[in-house]
Amino acid sequence: MTVSRQRPGEGTQRSTTRSERLAVTEALKVVGRVGAVLDVASGNGRWTELLTRKRRSSIIHFDMSAELLAAARGAAKQGRPIHGYVRGDAGALPFRTQIFDLVVCLEFLPYVRRSGGRIRALAEMRRVSRRWVVVEYRHRQGLHLAWQRLRLRLGLEARFPRNHFSYEQIDDELRRAGLGLRQVFPVGGLTSRSWVILAEAPSPDWMTGN
Ligand SMILES: C[S@@+](CC[C@H](N)C(=O)[O-])C[C@H]1O[C@@H](n2cnc3c(N)ncnc32)[C@H](O)[C@@H]1O
Repeated sequence: MTVSRQRPGEGTQRSTTRSERLAVTEALKVVGRVGAVLDVASGNGRWTELLTRKRRSSIIHFDMSAELLAAARGAAKQGRPIHGYVRGDAGALPFRTQIFDLVVCLEFLPYVRRSGGRIRALAEMRRVSRRWVVVEYRHRQGLHLAWQRLRLRLGLEARFPRNHFSYEQIDDELRRAGLGLRQVFPVGGLTSRSWVILAEAPSPDWMTGN
């Protein structure tokens, strides 16, 4: 049997799960209508439809992989507002400061092992966004990790994946990148292990807590 090691958005599989869609949709409701969207580490572009549908937003796909950018381009629906495809490193975004209304980065930060790398990418997202940044983190809350701990106590095999953080640790990383954590949207129910996080670049409102 061949086991695929591909992660969501890396292969030809372009679907999104219902729980992922719900969490992202809830975050986008808070954001409201936006013009220019940047999808960082966009993979095969499986989020394009949700990010642009009904919203008439333009979108730039940004990824290190030329192959995945080509897949995103191949799947893009004709007639949608501008789809750009830019190749590069999330740690050094080749865009001017504050030119996007919304920067989205899903299923990427959990694979960046070092805190310094995540903070660099987050700081770049903050720099190019006028306000909103939506990212995904694995978290430590809820039943997912409790179940693994129970398995360990029962002498069963337990798996504790890397890069699972507490709310406070995530808040701290965002702050170090100059972002404020606005709201958390769990992906899935009781067994959720990811949060879609809505963060905000500092603005007069954010600074005064309004
Ligand atoms: C697991 S996929 C997620 C894709 C997409 N965001 C999704 O949710 O479907 C991770 C993506 O990160 C891209 N990537 C890895 N390192 C990168 C980097 N330093 N800069 C930009 N993209 C990177 C990979 O090419 C891949 O497309």
